[in-house]
Amino acid sequence: MSKPYKGLDDGLTQYGDLGFARYLRRSFASSMGYSREALDRPVIGIADSTSGFNNCHRHFPELLAAVERGVLMAGGLPLRFPTISLGEAYLNPTSMKFRNLMSMDVEEMVRAQPMDAVVLVGGCDKTVPAQLMGAISAGKPAIQLVGGPMMTGRFEGERLGACTDCRRYWARHRAGEVSESVIKVVEGNLATTTGTCAVMGTASTMACLAEALGLSLPGTAAIPAVHADRLRAGEESGKRAVALALQGVKPDTFITERSVENALRVLLAISGSTNALVHLTAIAGRAGIRIDRARLNALSESTPVLLDLKPTGEHYMEDFHAAGGMPAILRELKPLLHLDCPTVGGLTIGEVIEAVGWSNTDIVRPMDRPIDPVGGLIALEGSLAPNGALLKRAAADKRLFETEGRAVVFENLEDLAARIDSPDLDVEVGDVLVLKHAGPKAAGMPEAGYLPIPSKLARQGVKDMLRISDARMSGTAYGTVVLHVSPEAAADGPLALVRNGDRIRLSVEARRIDLLVPEEELAQRRKVRPAPAAAPARGYASLFERHVMQAEDGCDFDFLQADPAAAVPSSTS
Ligand code: FES
Ligand code: MG
Repeated sequence: MSKPYKGLDDGLTQYGDLGFARYLRRSFASSMGYSREALDRPVIGIADSTSGFNNCHRHFPELLAAVERGVLMAGGLPLRFPTISLGEAYLNPTSMKFRNLMSMDVEEMVRAQPMDAVVLVGGCDKTVPAQLMGAISAGKPAIQLVGGPMMTGRFEGERLGACTDCRRYWARHRAGEVSESVIKVVEGNLATTTGTCAVMGTASTMACLAEALGLSLPGTAAIPAVHADRLRAGEESGKRAVALALQGVKPDTFITERSVENALRVLLAISGSTNALVHLTAIAGRAGIRIDRARLNALSESTPVLLDLKPTGEHYMEDFHAAGGMPAILRELKPLLHLDCPTVGGLTIGEVIEAVGWSNTDIVRPMDRPIDPVGGLIALEGSLAPNGALLKRAAADKRLFETEGRAVVFENLEDLAARIDSPDLDVEVGDVLVLKHAGPKAAGMPEAGYLPIPSKLARQGVKDMLRISDARMSGTAYGTVVLHVSPEAAADGPLALVRNGDRIRLSVEARRIDLLVPEEELAQRRKVRPAPAAAPARGYASLFERHVMQAEDGCDFDFLQADPAAAVPSSTS
């Protein structure tokens, strides 16, 4: 009887001689010291994204050892392999530029190497989407294990967590309220352990979405990086990977229109990061599933915000774990979820919910006592963003929801840096700050959408203004910030045509963002547009510029998506 798995000598025929290929592979495997018994087991690859440039993954050696232990306990052979790692703080011009590169690395190495299943170990913002995108496209059994969040630090009796508190203190420092010496002490207390950012930023949001999609084990998203439960999650993930290998269950079992809709509900209920929508769109796109704006808005109207976590609430990820974690959120959302969706743990979402015991209802609110009766994110469209834009209304100032103001335009990131704090900047309360050429094609879509309040206004006590760009913003940021304007300026979107003094109108009620300039005038401006910047001549930058898609397509590369003809909309109910 043949084995249900292939093992290390999976009979690839790269020499045109199957017998020789297997003989050679066994011989080289013996050189690693494995016995025949070890080699006869299902091989579980462990995608290792440890890096000296990734502080969030500092504890991975211990976590990976726990995964290996679980694989061995379940009768598999664990083999670690390295991939690219993306440490958010250390990548220029932006980590986003390299998410697709990491996804290609993961996809090709999972496919090319003889593994029967893979445990994807990631955490920092772009690593989890990159691993999921790659694994879906590779089409082998896979399970996601995240590294878990940091613990909070302490400063003058207050808890601090990266990076919402980083921004809060920096804004106060810019406004002259916090001195140079105090900001230095704060700097040393914002990120005090290994793990991902301690609030509901992009990394935490992606951890929750991986769990909502059924691709990581129930209850694992919020376990702190340094908690012993995190190691048990590693062990259990290793064990489950062997079961998935033996059953041949691949990611497309879990990534379906229904699970993507569950993930969108969770994204809204946890008031997750705006970036996560781009990533979820890319992940779903690899399975041929599209997320459309109208559907997002319909879900947003019927999904309450239930989680009281920074940046929109008060608590931190360590509190979320102690409050019951993701299963508690799923339980409260139960009437809105597709309960029959399977998970890599073997239970359906409905069965996961049945198993929930205690939860803290101050942090994970019940549906009849929500933080907000509607979801945190809404899609906009209008003459300034014909293909859409995004607003995190939960993090925005409600007084700016219906606004019309005068545009103060920055042509690109350099222009912004050069002029935002100039005493000569012609800017007043009620103006609209506009940043161009920070979209995917132009700049890799950095987190520049959270434009700083010009210091002359910050010093007057102005805390928020309407800001608009084709960039992203950090999941840990807050403010009335319209992001992901599409098409971006560099793809000839109307954003490119905005000039100082133009009127712009935001209506959250109507879900619109409009440039109030007559079409004839815009047509004139189109004729005198400056020549586009020269495209990169070589290498990855050139590949990226030619193939990156816009935000509504998840900024994936056009050649990596599933066959677009096979794409189906995500609306299922
Ligand atoms: Fe890695 Fe924030 S820097 S998650
Ligand atoms: Mg981030």
